[in-house]
Amino acid sequence: MFIQRCINCATEFDLDERIYVCSHCGDLLDIERVEPLAEGPDELRAIWSDRLKSSDAHDRSGVWRFREFLPFASDVQVVSLGEGNTPLYDAPRSAEYCGLTSLKLKHQGNNPTGSFKDTGMTVAVTQALSLRMHLVACASTGNTAASLAAYAARARMACAILVPEGQVSDAKLAQALDYGAKVLEIEGNFDVCMRVIKELAEQSSLYLVNSINSFRIEGQKTVAFELAEQLGWQSPDHLVVPGGNLGNSSAFGKGLREMLEHGLTRKQTRISVIQAEGAAPFARFYDSGQFVVEKQPHTLATAIKIGAPVSWKKASRAVNETGGCVITVSEQEIADAKATIGRDGIGCEPASATTVAGIRKLVIDGFIKKDERVVAVLTGHLLKDTDYVIKYHSQTLTTPDHKLIRGTFGNAITRVAARPCAIESALKNL
Ligand code: F0G
Repeated sequence: MFIQRCINCATEFDLDERIYVCSHCGDLLDIERVEPLAEGPDELRAIWSDRLKSSDAHDRSGVWRFREFLPFASDVQVVSLGEGNTPLYDAPRSAEYCGLTSLKLKHQGNNPTGSFKDTGMTVAVTQALSLRMHLVACASTGNTAASLAAYAARARMACAILVPEGQVSDAKLAQALDYGAKVLEIEGNFDVCMRVIKELAEQSSLYLVNSINSFRIEGQKTVAFELAEQLGWQSPDHLVVPGGNLGNSSAFGKGLREMLEHGLTRKQTRISVIQAEGAAPFARFYDSGQFVVEKQPHTLATAIKIGAPVSWKKASRAVNETGGCVITVSEQEIADAKATIGRDGIGCEPASATTVAGIRKLVIDGFIKKDERVVAVLTGHLLKDTDYVIKYHSQTLTTPDHKLIRGTFGNAITRVAARPCAIESALKNL
């Protein structure tokens, strides 16, 4: 059996209470198991491994495969698109760039809608279905929107999305539109969208599935289980994630903690969070000890252009419990790290590249040692924001305050005449 419990005052709520924050103190909620799990670690590992051979959709999902750790009855109707099961890549060029012997990239962009959001959305929309909700909604910088739109369509639910006008990539909007969501553009940034949708969720019967919704976090925490399994249940020394609304770092913190508690892993992994310099309220909190909302967040990594992250308390619990750190990286560092990941044949969207940029800095600072085992989480697919990529490679990418970003690893398109000798000459230096 599971309950919802306030992270501050520990008040308990039933799972079917449609609340997002504690009705007593207003703080965030955790979902917690209140009865011991029947299976031990070896048995669990064997069950999960067996499910890989099953053809049942429930077993094939990289999220629901770990359902012993999810708060649902066994007969629940699951809304799934076969999420999870994402690759863990060795990235030698990125490792070299960071000054590491080796580096692994857990690519959450390989989910059905191209971002890590799907692993949480399958659980949140399943909960919406259990609660018999008719309308699901979110505020989004684009990926949550695309993901929710897809899962709502699978569940045949109406779906409303609030996005900041002119600040979401075309690819992400295209997904939400095609999946049939009602897309509402709001004058203002993501934080404004988030504030409005939270107010609306208190008054109306829509179901909010931003990461303030703890069912989302439950789904996303299973990525930590999948990662541990891929590493033969050996914990890496460092796990590095980008920080926006801070749901992902919170979810990894919860997943790692539960695995340690249940004897599935033995060693603590440090969780570090990387933010873009212009949208870094969480990093400033770690510098100053005071959490202050950033009123005008700015970064070309639009997915993490967030000044008032809702899950910062849970994320700080994850960083503090595990001995990680929080730092910022510049727009130039993000762009160059992104191109480096691309040269490993992997690619990602700008927000994801904060991780490799951050690891490079943390190696220089000595926080990460050259031979330690490091995993960076890539959160979104390269094709989520092609405009950025083309501009970087053609030396036309500029920061929000109009400073040119150097295409240090630029790869410009070459125009050639339709003659073999012209093509041969263009290929001479390859
Ligand atoms: N990376 C990508 C690609 C994202 O889309 C987001 C968040 C993050 C990182 C940050 O993750 O919020 O859990 O700290 N995107 C949200 C959205 C805000 O609406 O799609 P976080």
